[in-house]
Amino acid sequence: MSRPTLIAPSVLPADFSRLGDEVAALEAAGVDLIQWDVMDGQFVPNLTFGPDVIASARSHCSVPFEAHLMVLTPDVMAEQYVQAGCSRLIVHAEACTHLHRTLTNINDLGATAAVALNPATPASAVEHVLDLIDMVLVMTVNPGFGGQAYIATMEPKIRQIQQLLEAAGRADDVHIEVDGGIGPETIAGAAAAGANVLIAGSALYSDPEGLGHAVSDLRARAEAARG
Ligand code: DX5
Repeated sequence: MSRPTLIAPSVLPADFSRLGDEVAALEAAGVDLIQWDVMDGQFVPNLTFGPDVIASARSHCSVPFEAHLMVLTPDVMAEQYVQAGCSRLIVHAEACTHLHRTLTNINDLGATAAVALNPATPASAVEHVLDLIDMVLVMTVNPGFGGQAYIATMEPKIRQIQQLLEAAGRADDVHIEVDGGIGPETIAGAAAAGANVLIAGSALYSDPEGLGHAVSDLRARAEAARG
């Protein structure tokens, strides 16, 4: 089975005073899952969602939650985010001294595990853990904030990861996700390179025709680019 095209929001631009209503609106708009950008103020210069905040939103929608752990200590915090209702945890290769052990622990918690790569981190960083993950996240901005410009030079890295997955026989089982600067003008390049899970924050919330139109438009553009 080839990987489906999945559209997922970052909730960074959402109204944090109404997160329950916001995730319900995202589900109604047709998103396939919701990504929570968890930031600790150390790994990145911003501070966002603790596990209790995510847990408070969990019952307001039924789509899967994933936690993008932009944190220095993912091992310490992983269980709390699974208990909060996240079915996938994304850890940064750059924050994990023992990445293989961290991913194994996430799987042992009953969640699926994914690895995020900052722009300067090579695709080879995931070469020896492909059996432990169901997704690779290629950051197309430097993490920490929404609204940044897409880094198109990440597209060769996306292709390299697709090639690694094919060589390992994991191309149908492991998603390639991109996050940062994804919008109508950039999504086709990322999808054509091999990304099938597309994270958007600003592009979703700035669409004058609303979230539903933004999700449908991005999905159509990505599917057209994937062929
Ligand atoms: C960076 C964040 C952003 C966010 C998406 O740490 O992870 O990439 O999710 O932001 P936009 O879609 O506004 O670039």
